[in-house]
Amino acid sequence: MRHRPRGENIIRFDSVGLRYGLGPEVLQDVTFKLPAGSFHFLTGPSGAGKSSLLRLMYLGLRPTRGRVVLFDRDIAATKRYELPALRRRIGVVFQDFRLLDHMTALDNVALPLRVRGVKESEIRRHVPELLSWVGLADHLGAKPSTLSGGQKQRVAIARAVIGRPDLLLADEPTGNVDDHIAMRLMYLFEELNKLGTTIVVATHNELLVQRFAHLPRLHIEHGMVTTLQQEPAAVDDLEAE
Ligand SMILES: Nc1ncnc2c1ncn2[C@@H]1O[C@H](COP(=O)(O)OP(=O)(O)OP(=O)(O)O)[C@@H](O)[C@H]1O
Ligand SMILES: [Mg+2]
Repeated sequence: MRHRPRGENIIRFDSVGLRYGLGPEVLQDVTFKLPAGSFHFLTGPSGAGKSSLLRLMYLGLRPTRGRVVLFDRDIAATKRYELPALRRRIGVVFQDFRLLDHMTALDNVALPLRVRGVKESEIRRHVPELLSWVGLADHLGAKPSTLSGGQKQRVAIARAVIGRPDLLLADEPTGNVDDHIAMRLMYLFEELNKLGTTIVVATHNELLVQRFAHLPRLHIEHGMVTTLQQEPAAVDDLEAE
């Protein structure tokens, strides 16, 4: 992992607009930046454009207007053959997981390391450890089709974090798990963040947002993104839930 000085921006959007085909603009004039080492929630109603914004960030889509600057590179001016190297610095937890069905949980999580040429002996040490941490010690050899939604989600999270990416984009990563596991996963993200990874977690889960009230959030509504610094929640409010 590269250590980046705090204060530098990992990603910057300038007046970005996005429409699918001839449809309306899903995102309009989106301008924000994510400093290196930051950790944001991404909130907004269903259909507001959270997954779309994440797709723009991991270069799964190009904006219809405006400018995206990722790792100091203006994406519009970046050659196509240079994009995979930028993408490899990003860990993505997809809302629909996108695990490889013919591979075991262990092999799915090992994949980003194998692509990088990490030694098998290291893979055998690190991958089971991480899968155990997310509660899947008994499922290392399981194929995704035999796992529950919440178990698949944890495999997808393990795959996204195993390589300690510079940027982690997680789309509803706790949407299929209970509160206890959701908290454990958030702690995992916080640990990764302490090691230098910049993180964006899209969520609908208001309770989770309240519990991590120290985290700032990007909020999308009506195609616009605002950055909100959350107020520290009073302990009484949380206990009242
Ligand atoms: N591939 C696509 N083609 C056409 N329209 C799309 C496509 N993907 C998303 N949209 C539209 O863009 C808008 C934003 O969708 P998006 O999936 O980004 O919302 P979201 O905030 O992630 O919603 P949710 O909370 O339900 O996951 C919606 O109106 C949706 O219908
Ligand atoms: Mg979504």
